[in-house]
Amino acid sequence: MPTPLSRRSFLSTSATLAAVGAVAGAATTPDQANAMEPIDTIEGPVFASTWAFGQAANEEAQRTLAHGDLLDAIEQGIRLVEADASNHSVGLGGTPNANGVVELDACIMDGTTYNAGSVAGMPGIAHPISVARRVMEKTKHVMLVGEGAREFALDQGLEAAELLTENRRQKWEAWKKEQIEMSLQESHDTIALVGRAADGTLAGGCSTSGWGYKLAGRVGDSPIIGGGLYVDGQVGAAGATGVGENVMRYCGSFLAVELMARGATPEEACIDTVESIGRKDPKALEEVHVNFVAIDKHGRHGAAGSDEGFAYSITTQAGSEVIDAVHVTG
Ligand code: GLY
Repeated sequence: MPTPLSRRSFLSTSATLAAVGAVAGAATTPDQANAMEPIDTIEGPVFASTWAFGQAANEEAQRTLAHGDLLDAIEQGIRLVEADASNHSVGLGGTPNANGVVELDACIMDGTTYNAGSVAGMPGIAHPISVARRVMEKTKHVMLVGEGAREFALDQGLEAAELLTENRRQKWEAWKKEQIEMSLQESHDTIALVGRAADGTLAGGCSTSGWGYKLAGRVGDSPIIGGGLYVDGQVGAAGATGVGENVMRYCGSFLAVELMARGATPEEACIDTVESIGRKDPKALEEVHVNFVAIDKHGRHGAAGSDEGFAYSITTQAGSEVIDAVHVTG
């Protein structure tokens, strides 16, 4: 079961982080802050991702890393989830927008170079994560949207696809007739995959079809660098799932990485990020739907969210596991 953590019970953790922050304010480097306690480094590659379905992505990433680089691993791990038509919130078989068009968002980031690539609201292409990587590696830009992103993908020789499956088309027809809202948790199961190679380098990626039956042109947090994903090669990486509007307004993944830079463990950073959003957002925390997974350069990992039932997948040399995230309550 997830560990519920109320704001009250979190005070002790916050106090620890505040103390670290105060020291960091006095020109303490991340390594000095981390040096305050012995660090349990995990050897070898480490991959962490959102939800139990991330486990297959982690394992594909690990297999790919055996003969490729870390960006190849992230891309191939996410492609596996994008190709799974039974997953209705990522790639092929994703839930369409209000007009019945599946518009995809994705991004990728290299922690060593701080380069990033991203696509948003892109129709008709099977693997948005691969388009995001081409944007990063083949253009001077970070983000392409909509039809321009699709044309770029085709120019790059990437695969066109009809993304709306018959199953999703029927659901959409029913939604149009009855306007039955999907539950927020049902419609926001983004894959965010963050990884650290054995040499200590870090990278991450994120991919989603976004909010089911969204307005055409709506873009969530997943392709926003610092929102749905952030990677700092000197510190760690974080990714998000949940209601993108509530992640991107607070630069959630960037905040989690910054907290790690000031000495927080990945789990503390995710908890404090959810807490921070909860303190600022006028809605009750249970209505905010923000969830984060993070790893640091030492291979430590953790996750926390405002959604009960949020879990993350972790894969190391020792094997794979699905772990209940800390449930932060209001
Ligand atoms: N987190 C995915 C989205 O809101 O689009």
